[in-house]
Amino acid sequence: MCDLRSLVGLVVFATCFTKVLPNGRFQVFVITLNNNRGVTRDGRCCSGPSSYPPCFGACSTFLKICLLHRWHGNPRACGLGFATSPIYEKNNLATGNDVNSVDLFLEVNFQYSWPGNITMLVEAWHDIDSQRTINDHSQLILRTEESLELLPSPAWITSSSVTPTSEIEFSYRVICNENYHGNSCEIFCRPRDDSFGHFQCARNGSRVCMTGWEGEFCDRAMCTEKCLNASGICERPFECRCRIGWYGDHCDKCVVYPGCLNGNCLYPGQCICYDGWFGKLCDIDLNYCFKNNPCLHGGSCFRDNVNNYTCACPQGFAGLNCQYSFCEKEFCQNGGTCMMTNIYERRCLCAKGFYGDRCQHSLLSCDENFCKNGGKCIENDSERSCDCLPGYLGNQCQEEIDECTSDPCLNGGTCRDRVNDYVCECTTGYAGSQCAILIDPCDQFLCFNGGTCLVMTENLSAFCNCRRGYSGERCEIADPCMSFQCFHGGSCTFKTGGTRPYCLCAAGYDGDHCERNKNPCQGILCQNSGKCAVSPMQNGFVCFCKQGYTGEVCETKINNCESSPCKNNGICKSYSDSFICICPSGFGGKRCQKSLMVSDQRQNTVQLLADSEKGGAVTTVEVASSSSLTIEPRYLTFFISSTILFMFICIVDQT
Ligand SMILES: *[C@@H]1O[C@H](CO)[C@@H](O)[C@H](O)[C@H]1NC(C)=O
Ligand SMILES: *[C@@H]1O[C@H](CO)[C@@H](O)[C@H](O)[C@H]1NC(C)=O
Ligand SMILES: *[C@@H]1O[C@H](CO)[C@@H](O)[C@H](O)[C@H]1NC(C)=O
Ligand SMILES: *[C@@H]1O[C@H](CO)[C@@H](O)[C@H](O)[C@H]1NC(C)=O
Ligand SMILES: *[C@@H]1O[C@H](CO)[C@@H](O)[C@H](O)[C@H]1NC(C)=O
Ligand SMILES: *[C@@H]1O[C@H](CO)[C@@H](O)[C@H](O)[C@H]1NC(C)=O
Repeated sequence: MCDLRSLVGLVVFATCFTKVLPNGRFQVFVITLNNNRGVTRDGRCCSGPSSYPPCFGACSTFLKICLLHRWHGNPRACGLGFATSPIYEKNNLATGNDVNSVDLFLEVNFQYSWPGNITMLVEAWHDIDSQRTINDHSQLILRTEESLELLPSPAWITSSSVTPTSEIEFSYRVICNENYHGNSCEIFCRPRDDSFGHFQCARNGSRVCMTGWEGEFCDRAMCTEKCLNASGICERPFECRCRIGWYGDHCDKCVVYPGCLNGNCLYPGQCICYDGWFGKLCDIDLNYCFKNNPCLHGGSCFRDNVNNYTCACPQGFAGLNCQYSFCEKEFCQNGGTCMMTNIYERRCLCAKGFYGDRCQHSLLSCDENFCKNGGKCIENDSERSCDCLPGYLGNQCQEEIDECTSDPCLNGGTCRDRVNDYVCECTTGYAGSQCAILIDPCDQFLCFNGGTCLVMTENLSAFCNCRRGYSGERCEIADPCMSFQCFHGGSCTFKTGGTRPYCLCAAGYDGDHCERNKNPCQGILCQNSGKCAVSPMQNGFVCFCKQGYTGEVCETKINNCESSPCKNNGICKSYSDSFICICPSGFGGKRCQKSLMVSDQRQNTVQLLADSEKGGAVTTVEVASSSSLTIEPRYLTFFISSTILFMFICIVDQT
């Protein structure tokens, strides 16, 4: 608190106070004073011969204001001050509303705390001695007294008063002087914008800081915490001026020691090396060897705290980087002479017949054996070299170029290296020097004996699809079984190397072609109860059929009606060995060949009652004996069966 600035402020303030400056002004402005008759308060004429009106002389009027404490003031004392106006030789005073009129304007300057509660006296007097003496109360023209609470304000308050003899209207106010504020005009505040403060003053006298300033006297600039925390100087609002050795927006970066190459600092002037650096200026690269590999000619590099690195040079070399070489014994071999070509390069002059940096190679002139594989040998003063034939490489053409390394064969072809060339062995289906051509596998793939060439989709190989009876890759082999028949389910086989095919017969058969049945009745079923017997004829067996059947295995039923034996539309019925004819009406005989008389008819035929569905057709049955019977249809079946039985018996008898 007790710093120099406060002290200076105090001195300045003290200086201000020592100047006698009133704190404020009480002002009254009389608008009108009417004293038409020119009398004093008690009604007497101010001047002139007559004591009472009409008066012949005018009043010498002056105004007086008097201020005193409200509750305890001696009205005579005007304890808070007073003021008087000039003397006007007239009864009525008026200024209208012209506030600037000096004449009727009265002012009390005060240098005390304005008390607020006051008593205010406004008086008009008649002057008697040009001294504005007010001892004689008979000279009073008018007096108003107001006790009130009056606070400083620029606004005028108007008041008026009427007495029996006169009337007055006036305005008044109390105002603080410039830079004084508050209800008592005791608060001093002068706006300023200098090193002692930056503020305006509020109505009530408190300081209102300008933007960017703070503190009781608004003399502290607002600053960022970052700047203040770092090494910044902040004297103007939001300024951040760096102290020497610091920089950056917030003055938080320190300036390193001059010349510091690879380091930083915590405080100005430091040079704290980054990893891998060393030295006062952090200019020694501890990894220099590793990064730069500076040692030439096979020198070994070592870390060095003065020069970054030191090279340990191999024999014959010197210099920081082993860059210098010097002639030494035995450097040039085979009798060569060492020479310095400049300060750091040596060179060997080789004896005749040798070459190389150190004359280590023997120079042979071109001979047949130097260049291999037909390469041509070329020689000049220092070397010999080979001009190789196409397909060969190497300083002696000793290497054969493998043309297959570029994989020139397509579609799975296999590459075979040749001199300056290659050959592709193509996979099936491809051709061409690089197997790029897809060929039809059936081209030139002949199939004999009508066989067809087909292509295997998976590997594009051709194969022959042979016709029946042929086999072999190209269907060239005819099947000997083609023209060799085997009967009775026998199968033909052909033994490789055998002379002819033979039959493998099914069980029960033999013979070259399985044509013979070993037991002809085995497996033969004579149908319809026929009996099988071995026979040298035909198939080797014979079936003896039951009556009414025929055929090789008695499979056929004999039909005696086949030759249509019944005449005149007689209906034929076949019975094992015989037949009967069912004759139409009017005919008879075994074959219905006889035409019958009506009398005969009555005698010999039986009228068969036709059922309604047969449309009334009449059937006559004639039995072989021609003795006619009359049979009801329901007995017909029985009749026919009996007849058959009868005939069967006859047939059996005959045999
Ligand atoms: C004037 O007097 C009244 C009543 O006693 C009081 O309330 C008020 O605060 C006084 N005013 C001043 C400015 O002292
Ligand atoms: C003065 O007035 C200002 C506003 O103009 C206000 O912020 C401040 O509190 C006041 N001070 C006092 C002492 O009344
Ligand atoms: C300033 O410093 C103080 C104390 O060291 C710390 O608490 C604060 O966070 C700092 N502010 C900034 C902005 O760095
Ligand atoms: C060390 O090497 C660095 C580069 O890696 C170079 O800047 C520095 O000047 C060198 N110091 C000396 C002493 O030669
Ligand atoms: C000798 O031949 C080699 C290879 O052909 C060539 O590089 C070299 O310059 C030649 N030297 C001279 C001296 O002609
Ligand atoms: C092609 O494939 C078939 C079966 O998928 C095989 O029998 C035949 O030998 C193959 N041909 C060649 C040339 O690989």
